[in-house]
Amino acid sequence: MSITTKQEMFERELQKLYHAEIEILDLHSDLATAAASDEVREIFDGHETDTVEQIDRIEVMFEELDLEPRERGSPIMEGLLAEKDEFIAEVADDDLRDLDAISIGMINERLEITLLDRLIMLADELDVPSSVVEYLKKNRDEAQVALSRMQQFLEERRSR
Ligand SMILES: [Fe+2]
Repeated sequence: MSITTKQEMFERELQKLYHAEIEILDLHSDLATAAASDEVREIFDGHETDTVEQIDRIEVMFEELDLEPRERGSPIMEGLLAEKDEFIAEVADDDLRDLDAISIGMINERLEITLLDRLIMLADELDVPSSVVEYLKKNRDEAQVALSRMQQFLEERRSR
């Protein structure tokens, strides 16, 4: 498919975000399993409800835009999942494995934020319903809260 309009680009990015969020459910559950401490497990388990709600919001966005909810895979997301499989399993030290899990979680939230920033920018230029923009912003806010929580964890570990 060749893209010539901002509308088509918006649709493609929304499909990528949709795919990413669905994959993230598995990613988070694997990171929670890999975590050594309850604290890190809690961070990933705690963000699961948010992720389910984010997926629901994306489905409503497709509906409000009169589009089929379609997923589009992207090499970045596949790479992140491969990174998790390849590296976390080889870390035998508990503290280090927690740091690895948090690091992958942070890359993931930053990816979400980047995709959402692009979608919000395109939405501003397109004639999309304001509810769609609000949903995008809500998803971005939640990703930012999750990212801040992970950063805070790193800060606390450092000062221990
Ligand atoms: Fe997230």
